[in-house]
Amino acid sequence: MQSVQGTYNDKVVRQFAVMTVVWGIVGMLVGVIVAAQLLWPDLTHGIPWLTYGRLRPLHTSAVIFAFGGCGLMATSLYAVQRTSHARLISDKLASFVFWGWQAIIVAVAITLPLGLTQGKEYAEHEWWIDIMIAVVWVSYGVLFFGTVVKRKVKHIYVANWFYGAFIITIALLHIVNNLSIPASFTRSYSIYSGAVDAMVQWWYGHNAVGFFLTTGFLGMMYYFVPKQAERPIYSYRLSIVHFWALIAIYMWAGPHHLQYTALPDWAQSLGMVFSLILLAPSWGGAINGIMTLSGVWHKLRTDPILKFLIVSLSFYMMSTFEGPMMSIKTVNSLSHYTDWTIGHVHSGALGWVAMITIGSTYSMIPRLLGLRGMYSTKLVDAHFWTHTIGIVLYIASMWIAGIMQGLMWRATNEDGTLTYTFVESLYQTYPYYAFRLLGGVLVVFGMLIMAWNVLKTWQMATSKAPQPILTPDPSEARA
Ligand code: HEM
Ligand code: HEM
Repeated sequence: MQSVQGTYNDKVVRQFAVMTVVWGIVGMLVGVIVAAQLLWPDLTHGIPWLTYGRLRPLHTSAVIFAFGGCGLMATSLYAVQRTSHARLISDKLASFVFWGWQAIIVAVAITLPLGLTQGKEYAEHEWWIDIMIAVVWVSYGVLFFGTVVKRKVKHIYVANWFYGAFIITIALLHIVNNLSIPASFTRSYSIYSGAVDAMVQWWYGHNAVGFFLTTGFLGMMYYFVPKQAERPIYSYRLSIVHFWALIAIYMWAGPHHLQYTALPDWAQSLGMVFSLILLAPSWGGAINGIMTLSGVWHKLRTDPILKFLIVSLSFYMMSTFEGPMMSIKTVNSLSHYTDWTIGHVHSGALGWVAMITIGSTYSMIPRLLGLRGMYSTKLVDAHFWTHTIGIVLYIASMWIAGIMQGLMWRATNEDGTLTYTFVESLYQTYPYYAFRLLGGVLVVFGMLIMAWNVLKTWQMATSKAPQPILTPDPSEARA
């Protein structure tokens, strides 16, 4: 017989869930603006804080850390409480993590357009923002792991393993890569230099992809796919193998970002080999998620939330096939510097990261509000199709543009001179930039549909009372 033991802290989950939608719209809108700037370079009339060089890092920071970060915090704090049958260890700490993270996002949104940057991709923010990030991140870790320690069941559900690895690794990557000597409030110098600086930066950059954009979202997958499908995960054993294989391999693949550079040749080859091996655990994990639908495939016909979750896994498989191929040195010699990389990035970012986040948010919001579903399933379906068509336009145009650019740049005449000038290749790329822009507009339109649906769902909820914590089944309870 299950009894009630207090309530969950869902306030912080709701706050992060709402901000996921808000920052999703903002970050992707900035993506649309930079996409338009590539098509019309004079779009913002040279206003310094609206130049491409300042808005591009604003886009990457906003979509990764604001949209993705809020999504990860919302879902991890939701899942850790439900799977542990315990309330978060401290309401005050939860509040600090939420407001601290929002303050960081606002500080970034002000400083990057002002041109204040460390110049490290995905780690642009100046030293004092880095300190804020470290403090809030460690607090988030204490909140998460403290709740795991307090759990009322014996085992730690696999989603928490993935979320936990993501939290620990991001702390490590962030602190090591951002070690610098501050010269003033607006300027600092990295403690690394030359090839070592490049290697540390891409050890960080690649593992930011591996642990922020992948491992954390796999935690989301392991909680929300079984929940939405109302089936247990296909293979618990495979999920453990998936976890350890991913953790062991990801760390070594960073040098694939530095092929044909001053990095020692053996390190470049090591990066390539580990990238190729990475295909196996990535596909193993994705198959584990997709096969969870065994026996209930028909639900895909009627449940667009499940469509978001399962299609996100298909994009995950696509980008984790493409990535290892691009890490092969001869392929990289064609793809590097071209829009092929941008296509790969967005098949991972819009296909995998955004779709799993959107699907999980749609799955979580009605549950948080004690409702049976979203205000409109038709609107979720409309969002699914708008988003999917948007992605296909985006990535297909970038693949074609990228391969065309690579081939044009390496083409030579019989006397050894280049067949095409760079500007000629740029000219040929413009139509594809237009298709990418159209894809981006569709994706943002889909996010606006989501915002409307979330608002109406919110208004539908009659009671926003905190949800009760039920004692676990005796079979689940702590020994
Ligand atoms: C409406 C949706 C989006 C549009 C229109 C868009 C557009 C763009 C554009 C134009 C660039 C610069 C490309 C270049 O340098 O040539 C870019 C870069 C980037 N975007 Fe997006 N983006 C969108 C959504 C997202 C999302 C959701 C994420 C992540 C979750 C993301 C992550 C990135 C990253 C990591 C880069 C840097 C890629 C690199 O340096 O290779 N984007 N985006
Ligand atoms: C097995 C998994 C993967 C491997 C081996 C891999 C490999 C690669 C390679 C070789 C590049 C090109 C590097 C260059 O030429 O500069 C790249 C770029 C990139 N990939 Fe992946 N990738 C994988 C999965 C993913 C996923 C799932 C995402 C997103 C969620 C992603 C995001 C990125 C980003 C953001 C970049 C651009 C980095 C930059 O230059 O700014 N990758 N990846």
